[in-house]
Order: sequence, then C-alpha cells, then structure tokens
Amino acid sequence: MDGSRSREIEVLLTEDRTFDPPQAFRAAAHVSDDTPYVEAGADREAFWAVQAEQLDWFRRWDNVLSWEPPFARWFEGGQLNVSHNCLDRHLDGPRADATALIWEGEPGDKRTYTYRELHREVCAFAAALKRLGVGRGDRVGIYLPMIPEAAIAMLACTRIGAPHSVVFGGFSAKSLRDRMIDAQARVLITADGGYRRGGIVPLKQTSDEAVDGLEFVDHVVVVRREEGGPPVDMRDGRDHWYHELVAEGDGACEPEAMEAEDILYILYTSGTTGKPKGIVHTTGGYLTQVVATTKWVFDVKHDDVYWCTADVGWVTGHSYIVYGPLALGATIVMYEGAPDYPDRGRFWKLVEDYGVTILYTAPTAIRAFMKWGDEWPARYDMSSLRLLGTVGEPINPEAWMWYQEHIGGDRCPIVDTWWQTETGGIMITPLPGAVSTKPGSATIPFPGVEATILDNDGQEADSGYLAITSPWPGMLRGIWGDEQRYRETYWSKWDGVYFPGDGARRDEDGYYWILGRVDDVLNVAGHRIGTMEVESALVDHPAVAEAAVVGRADELKGQAVAAFVSLVEGTESSSDLIQELRQHVGNEIGAIAKPADIVISAELPKTRSGKIMRRLLRDVAEGRALGDTTTLADPAVVEQLKAKYEGEA
Ligand code: PRX
Repeated sequence: MDGSRSREIEVLLTEDRTFDPPQAFRAAAHVSDDTPYVEAGADREAFWAVQAEQLDWFRRWDNVLSWEPPFARWFEGGQLNVSHNCLDRHLDGPRADATALIWEGEPGDKRTYTYRELHREVCAFAAALKRLGVGRGDRVGIYLPMIPEAAIAMLACTRIGAPHSVVFGGFSAKSLRDRMIDAQARVLITADGGYRRGGIVPLKQTSDEAVDGLEFVDHVVVVRREEGGPPVDMRDGRDHWYHELVAEGDGACEPEAMEAEDILYILYTSGTTGKPKGIVHTTGGYLTQVVATTKWVFDVKHDDVYWCTADVGWVTGHSYIVYGPLALGATIVMYEGAPDYPDRGRFWKLVEDYGVTILYTAPTAIRAFMKWGDEWPARYDMSSLRLLGTVGEPINPEAWMWYQEHIGGDRCPIVDTWWQTETGGIMITPLPGAVSTKPGSATIPFPGVEATILDNDGQEADSGYLAITSPWPGMLRGIWGDEQRYRETYWSKWDGVYFPGDGARRDEDGYYWILGRVDDVLNVAGHRIGTMEVESALVDHPAVAEAAVVGRADELKGQAVAAFVSLVEGTESSSDLIQELRQHVGNEIGAIAKPADIVISAELPKTRSGKIMRRLLRDVAEGRALGDTTTLADPAVVEQLKAKYEGEA
C-alpha cells in the first residue's frame, strides 16, 4: 500500500459520525429493518428468486443459478423481454398515462413522454430497426447525446433482442471505431449533434470518421436533435434519418421472448491494458438485480421524480436511468447538458422546476458544487428532495456532509453506492430506511451480495482488497470475444472469488470503506481511464519516444492524469508541443483522458532491467518524498524529474 493510501486510511479511521435513517423516511420506506438481510442470509438463491418474481416473465425459469466458476447462469429456462418489462407491463394499469420521462435539453427545450407514448416510440423504432434487417443477436452501436432517443434506442434494441453497445458521446472517433470493430456492430445510431456548454458536439461528423471504410456497418441512423441543427452529410443507402424511419410502417412491434442468458448489452470499459474491455451483460439476472436495487436503494415509488445525472454512455445510465427506474414505472428526469450552463444553478433549477425527489450524482460533481458556493443551491426551492445518492468514486466526508446539508436540507438520507460496469448493479450500499450511514462509507453489501476483504493470499483482513465471494445475478458474463482475459482479470487472484480491482477497509461495525483502484486504472471525475490507453495514445504521436502515465490526487476530480514523456531524438520540448500532445490524447481517446500534467524529460526512471518505475512517478506527481530508489539504473533521472515537475507544477 503506498503512502497516500495509508494517509487516507488514517483519515477514515477518525471518521466516527453516524447518521440513522430519519424517522419520517423510515416510516414510509420499502425497507425499514433488516428483514431482507436475514432472508438473503438464510437462502441467497431463494432471495434472488423472489426478486426475479417482480419481473414479468413470458416463461418461468427452471433453475435459479448454475455456477461453474467463473461462469454463472441465472434463471435458465426463463424467458422475458426488457422493453416489455420497462413499458408494456405498465400499460394495463394507472401508470400508462403517467409520465415516464421528463427531458430537458441544454438550451432549455423540453419534452415529456407518458409510458404509453414512450412505448409507441420504442415500438416504432424497433420496427424500423427490424426493417433495416436488425435481428436477434445483432450488435447495434449507439452514440447519442443525452436526448430521449438515447433511452428509446436502447429499449428498441432490447425489444428485438439486438444487444446494444452504447458509446459515451464524449469519446473520440477512434474510440467509437475501435468499439464498433470489436463488437462488429452492423448499425450505428447517432445524432446530428448535441449541446454541451452552449456549443454543438458534431456527433454525426465524428461517426462518419469512425465508421469510414468499415464494411460490416450497413446502416447509420441519424436523430435530428432539432430542426436547423448542424449540417450533416447523409450517405445514400447507408444513412437514414430517424424521424423518417419511424414514420414508415404501422409502428407495431411485438417484443422478442429472450432467454434469461441472452446478451442484453455490451459496454466497454477501461482496464489495465491499452484495449478497453467489452463487458457482457445478459437479460434476466441483470434486470432482476437492477430492479431490486433501484427499488430498495432509491426507495422508488410511483410518485417519485427520480433524477440520475449520469450519461447513458456509462453503466450508471444503463442501470439507473433507463432499465431500473422504468421497469418500476417511475418518472425519470433526463438532462442533456452541463451543470454550469447557463449558470451554476442549473441542476438546482431542474430540481425545483420538476420537483425532483431522488437525486443520484457523482462525488466530483458535489465537490464542484461545493467550490461554486452555497449560494447556488440556496436560491432554489429544493424541498421536494427526499433521498440523495452518490456513485463512481470514493466520496470524501467533507463533500458528503456538504451534500447532506446544502442539497438535502439535513433531512435526506444519502446512499453511497459502490459498484462497477462489471457488476451490472449496485453491490455495496445502505438501504436508506434501514441502515445507518457514515460519511465516506458505502456501508454494507446489498442483501444477496457476499463480499469480504482479502489479502494477496486470500486471507481475510481488515484492510486489503475488496472481494466478492459468490456469484450475483447482475454480474458480467464475460468480456466480449476474450474469455481468457475474463478469467485473468477477475478470477485469477483468488480461486472462484471475484476481484473488482479496488482496495478497501472494513471497520469494527462491518462497514466498507472503498479506497480506490489498486491496478493501473485511474478514476478521473468518476470516469475509468486506463493508464495504458493514455500511454499508447501518447506514444502514437510522432514526437514521443516513451510515455508513462500515472494518477495523482486531485481535489476536485479525485484523480488527475499525469504523463511523463520522453521525445524522439532531435525533437525539442515546447509548450506548444505539450498542448499538442494533450490534444492528441483527446483525439485518440476523448477529452476525459487528456492529461492534466505532461512533463517532458530526456529519460524516464527505469530499473536496471529497463522497467519504468511508475511507483516513483506517482511519488513525483503527488509531491511526496521519493520511495526506495536503489533498484534504479540511474537515480539521478528521477531526482531531476522531481525538480522539473515541482518547477512546472
Ligand atoms: O473504483 C471503484 C469506483 O469506480 C469503479 C467502477 O467504475 P465504473 O465501472 O466506471 O462504474 C462506475 C459506476 C458504477 C470501481 O471499481 N467506484 C464506483 N462507485 C464507488 C467507487 N469507489 C468508491 N465509492 C463508490 N461508491
């Protein structure tokens, strides 16, 4: 464990504030005592089967779980359809004409859909996809801004059994291309553009670049964000306007009966190598966990207005904007743009305007709000809020307390939810009516989830690596096209136990404190970035000979990317070149991966056998005294680098 982590542990050890569920909240909560924990503890499979019964199945399963490590199959023999569960099943009751989706664009344009309207739109688009020849098992890329069509496209894919692969709209053409190739997606759904901080992000243009020359891409469907949007080139035969496609035909489309273990989606996430992993999720178990967690963690009821501020490009958007809340018949809010556009009160204005009752956001956003000042939330009436959530990275107690006071008015419980793209759904979290919270702790595993803390040898410990010791319904079923990597990444550290890649500590009350990644994955503003990906992007630049990328602590974003680069001979370092390298990473991966610091050095610190010592680079980037340098080939290199970094920082 490095220095910064042991400092973090010391800080956490001094955190002894505890908050019990507020009485008023507890009295009306779905869960107000430990019953689910007791039931799940007594029979985990029976517990999950009861959860699965909340879904609408076309055919009931024969078998709850078959587990041949590391391969799990949940609810085999069962058949269901996700869009049917999110839409059709609400049409027979009072939810049919209730609002399913409230959307606001960054410029202030608004749209709402009732369940009936959303169903109609999803069916029309699903039928259109079918006419384009998309069928069960065909992968579909989705590269959209945060507009209703993002949710509609996802649901339409699930309706016809076509696994989607959503790519965050901030990723570069190259990132989109790599994902389209890896998934062999035949269709890409994009938009002419979307709004971000007043500017238009030209998604179609980026999509054109991404699919250029890809023979297997038969169709590109383009949503027109608004009339008079950015001009786009429509290629005859390949490109289609969404609004024209859905206007054809009668708009009817029956849901496919999917097997519980059919693939629902692939979502790419960064790992420790240069190549992102296509995380595979299937249908029945995933929806079971997502619905159970949405219901109990967010205590969702029909009169709630639920707003998760994530982008649908990330797993949080999949599970907790689209699938969980809609399957429960909730009213969801979706917002397209930035939190500080046109001013820093935008989120709070949305809360006031729509009467948001449940808000789920990221610690990075909370820290930014804190920095922007208490006066912004204070200007709005946020008395509708009754529950707050956080996700994506560890939350520092100070930000937690600020969230509770300034956003929650000291009346809303906070659920700090730990999970991952791979876990599909929330794994460690309080149930807000039943579990007391401590600022900075994700508290305890969700009922039916079995976790512990292990050391390298697989021995239980108070502090070490987080481990998940039994299969859970929403777990990834593999890495698309790479079984070996699936085994190695998650299942090789200990036998039959899942390794999430996070360090953690457990206190005397059994509460978990997640300390962050222990591998070469950074968490910048809640986004996962592989250091190897950034290194490959840098060395791809003609001026770069070698690059090493590490994370350093950042007050606002949790971590920031620090890059150490040596140039090819004859190239001069300059501030223009540094700018160019930063931009180059943006073009290769996306703006979220741009290094905060780039330090150019004649040499990088290496061991005698030629391995770059990233541990020392982390010391440099975090301004610490250097650790052991005795194994270095030339200790002077790192000393010089440190002097240089401190001079430039
Ligand atoms: O390091 C953990 C951190 O985010 C990682 C997962 O990232 P991703 O797959 O992009 O999913 C993010 C949204 C689910 C984890 O390995 N992380 C996520 N939630 C928390 C967290 N770290 C601490 N506390 C959390 N609540």
